[in-house]
Amino acid sequence: MTLRHATSDDIPAIMVIERQPGYEALVGQWSAGQHRQHIADPAFLYLVAEDEATRITAFAALHRSADGLLLNRFIVKTAGLGLGRSLLPQVLDISAPAGTGQRVWLRVAAHNARAIGLYRSFGFEEEDRLPAAGTLPNGQVSDLVVMACTR
Ligand SMILES: CC(C)(COP(=O)(O)OP(=O)(O)OC[C@H]1O[C@@H](n2cnc3c(N)ncnc32)[C@H](O)[C@@H]1OP(=O)(O)O)[C@@H](O)C(=O)NCCC(=O)NCCS
Repeated sequence: MTLRHATSDDIPAIMVIERQPGYEALVGQWSAGQHRQHIADPAFLYLVAEDEATRITAFAALHRSADGLLLNRFIVKTAGLGLGRSLLPQVLDISAPAGTGQRVWLRVAAHNARAIGLYRSFGFEEEDRLPAAGTLPNGQVSDLVVMACTR
């Protein structure tokens, strides 16, 4: 599995990953236009993972601001196979190398136990809980958990 910077050619594959069945209850969905804008925005870092056949299997979108580095999207195409566990440290090493003291933070739906467990195991701690702060693509309103770590 290799990680590389995304280009606008990758947007269709990224959108398929974002829209995997079941994910509409877990994570937001951006339009093609939003992805295009983000990829062109120097404040965003867009990464895709490719398998040996150069098929895109995961993507991460990070956004840098005064609050630190926001891990805005982290999505694998097929959940539960260990890909998230192997990719998250690589994403963090590229975007915020250890020892740099950078704050990396994220918001995750409170019922997304798999993602929360994964983030916790890489040193992210729960900072806050925002009641009814997120509306998922399936219309469900969800509490959001704010998690952060210092690299
Ligand atoms: C969250 C996500 C990136 C994790 O990647 P993944 O490849 O599915 O996760 P892994 O297979 O590497 O498993 C990660 C850990 O979660 C654990 N896990 C699985 N289901 C779980 C659950 N319901 N509750 C708690 N932990 C769970 C696994 O046991 C594993 O831990 P281990 O390696 O110690 O056994 C992936 O599931 C995904 O893309 N989900 C949809 C989008 C999403 O929710 N993104 C995050 C939004 S903030």
